[in-house]
Amino acid sequence: MEPFGAVLLAAGQGIRMKSERPKVLHQVLGTPMVRLAYRALRDAGADPVIVVVGYQAESVRQALAGEPVIFVEQRERKGTGHAVLLCEKAARRVRGPLVVMYGDTPLVSPATLEALVAAHRRERPGAVAGAAATLLTVRLADPTGYGRIIRDPRGPLRGIVEEADATPEQRRIEEVNPGFYCFDPAALFPALRRIKPENRKGEYYLTDVIRILLLGGAEVRAIPARDPEEVLGVNSRRDLAAATEALRRREIDRHLDAGVTILDPAATYIEPGVTIGTDTVIFPFTVIRSGVRIGRHCEVGPFAQLRSGTVLEDGAEIGNFVEVKRSRLGPHTKAKHLTYLGDAEVGGRVNIGAGTITANYDGTSKHATVIEDGASTGSGTVLIAPVRMGRGSRTGAGAIVPARHDIPAGATVIGVPARPLIRPPAAVSRPTSGRKPAQRRGRA
Ligand code: UD1
Ligand code: CA
Repeated sequence: MEPFGAVLLAAGQGIRMKSERPKVLHQVLGTPMVRLAYRALRDAGADPVIVVVGYQAESVRQALAGEPVIFVEQRERKGTGHAVLLCEKAARRVRGPLVVMYGDTPLVSPATLEALVAAHRRERPGAVAGAAATLLTVRLADPTGYGRIIRDPRGPLRGIVEEADATPEQRRIEEVNPGFYCFDPAALFPALRRIKPENRKGEYYLTDVIRILLLGGAEVRAIPARDPEEVLGVNSRRDLAAATEALRRREIDRHLDAGVTILDPAATYIEPGVTIGTDTVIFPFTVIRSGVRIGRHCEVGPFAQLRSGTVLEDGAEIGNFVEVKRSRLGPHTKAKHLTYLGDAEVGGRVNIGAGTITANYDGTSKHATVIEDGASTGSGTVLIAPVRMGRGSRTGAGAIVPARHDIPAGATVIGVPARPLIRPPAAVSRPTSGRKPAQRRGRA
């Protein structure tokens, strides 16, 4: 694809969220909205991406730390048109058109953004120059909250009217502006300078450039968005819940399509960035966080939580009320009931008894637990990290294994604090009285 740049607006507070944190930092399935929006732009090929920050600018910058973005600060929030105008200097580095989108639209896919740019570039027979602007539109049964698309009775686009400024008749228009634009920068910035804050909110509306460009005789294209769900904007906690549900469902479907059995899709929460092998079964009420890797033929849940950094090798089984954090479980290892495994390296064919806990945190730092192949823990074992259980070793029920008291391969420890199990010497065979064996025989 030919080059294009982008502006992502993320300076607003988001008053309708009723929150102390900036709206774009609210998370959808574990990722801040601004990061999801940024990733869609990056994956569509936008370079550079200019991000406008303002309200709690530092924390918004943090959410994009490590990404090659250009930050522009909007000290006073005078509206979306003002925010884009501040990017004029940074946008000189853009080759090709400039995509503008908002940081509160977390569901958009790179394919939709690519389609927008492609529609903007498309040659039209007879056109003198290319389009000055191209925007997506979408029809919503409930258009509340969105700018409405104004057209001539015969169809051509006239402009966008914000909800706050719309007449009752305009409010009934179902075609709305989801907020995805592609501009020719040479047309955009002069038009932005002509916007006036003459509206109910007293803001410089980006949406006014559409009318300004059309009045100047420029070509503006409006193309329907492929998927209305993708362009959903988040203004309230209800919208946030709806966006979370849409993304959750998308992830579940992706795993179902890849050959994973999910017994109750409605009661399963899987963040993006999880891989699950074929023929693995996920039982209801399971939470799987970003970055987890699960092999083939595994079982997870019900009521399990796999946190970031967890790897389950093929055939591993995690049962009810088990939490695993930053741990690797080898093939066919089982932890079926009431367990916490944190910072643990567990080998293959290990059996983790009910109620086993790795005490990985000493109040200051986290420590590792190593459980080698074929080991098993008795019910209610506490392994105080750092500690190692050797190959085939065992703990008795209720054992508390102190830190650094590694258990040698094949050994068994019991008690509190755990100490080696000394087996009684092999029973000395007594001479038989001659009567007892007869009795035994009689009972048999
Ligand atoms: C905007 C559009 C509306 C569209 C809707 C789609 C305008 C005037 N209206 O309205 O037509 O239907 O999005 O979701 O553009 N922001 C800044 N600086 C500002 C103001 C806002 O960076 O001065 C950022 C916000 O952080 C936010 C985004 O711009 O991420 C959109 O702002 P928001 O207030 O949510 O606009 P809407 O009222 O939803
Ligand atoms: Ca919005």
